[in-house]
Amino acid sequence: MRITFSCQNTNAEPWLQGFRDVLPGVEINEWVSGASMADYAVVWAPSQSLFDEQLKLRGIFNIGAGVDALMRLRLPPAAQLVRLNDAGMAVQMAEYVCHAVTRHFREFDGYAKDIALQNWTFRKPKLRVDFPVGVMGLGVLGSRVAQALKQFEFPVRGWSRKAQNIDGVTCFSGNDELVTFLRGTRILVCLLPLTPETENILNADNLSCLMPQGYLINVARGAHLVEKDLCSLIDNGVLSGATLDVFRTEPLPKNHFFWEHPKITITPHTSARTLRQDTIAQIAEKILAMERGEFVPGVVVKTRGY
Ligand code: NAP
Ligand code: GLV
Repeated sequence: MRITFSCQNTNAEPWLQGFRDVLPGVEINEWVSGASMADYAVVWAPSQSLFDEQLKLRGIFNIGAGVDALMRLRLPPAAQLVRLNDAGMAVQMAEYVCHAVTRHFREFDGYAKDIALQNWTFRKPKLRVDFPVGVMGLGVLGSRVAQALKQFEFPVRGWSRKAQNIDGVTCFSGNDELVTFLRGTRILVCLLPLTPETENILNADNLSCLMPQGYLINVARGAHLVEKDLCSLIDNGVLSGATLDVFRTEPLPKNHFFWEHPKITITPHTSARTLRQDTIAQIAEKILAMERGEFVPGVVVKTRGY
């Protein structure tokens, strides 16, 4: 079995060794133009030329959950595209979102400013019932985030494409129920895949449906958000702020207004990192399942885009 590896901004050597350890006998190398035909590709944001040359691929394994960068390429039609299912990302996403929600709800940024000035002051406790959290996207990551938020006793709502039933989460689905979902949400968490249907979904029309003093947490993709719409809504007092982990251009350009905005907290696309060992183990298991002709979880429906 031959695997080609092409992952941008990734030190290839420990990955190659990791695959050799769990798949004895495998031939795995970093992709270069003109390389021998491989059966499988392990990728993150590879170049189009890999797919133009590697015409015998049976499976393409993404080392992340989101496949939007791959969906913009011409992929070999016979190859199955497989996304990462959790592999240690769901718990990271749950801790990131719960941290952002509780930091906002408990006003910890305000306390930090007071403490820096040696002010021993208290803020009036707020009621959780006034802070319903709505999770857009109830997949591998969104459903885990919804479960984690329930532990903190926030009212939790969720929105997905197909109707879902999650214990303790008020579920909405489809475009017909989007506005109802947003109107009852105060803190909005975006965990949608980036597809033609979801691009720019965090726009002025939708964000202004949130409850007064709404707050946005975008941990999905930068292109879900219309950045200027968010800033206008915050600056006009319609929204109270945002935590953003993902951006249209990454790294965020030095002169971007998000760096200095007092009501926007940013992190460098780090809410749920790919964990090498877990990822190698999951992909190796899926390759072996594919070799045996068995069901492989996480195969992307290409017409749907996720
Ligand atoms: P997933 O399992 O594929 O779940 C996607 C969810 O979105 C599903 O519930 C799906 O609905 C829903 N959805 C898709 N299109 C929709 C639409 N048009 N309208 C309403 N709901 C829609 O994906 P995941 O593993 O949870 O990951 C979600 C995204 O998180 C990834 O695509 C990636 O972009 C992002 N991500 C970010 C980081 C980071 O570090 N910032 C890390 C990992 C992932 P159905 O249930 O009805 O199919
Ligand atoms: C990270 O953004 C991922 O999609 O895994």
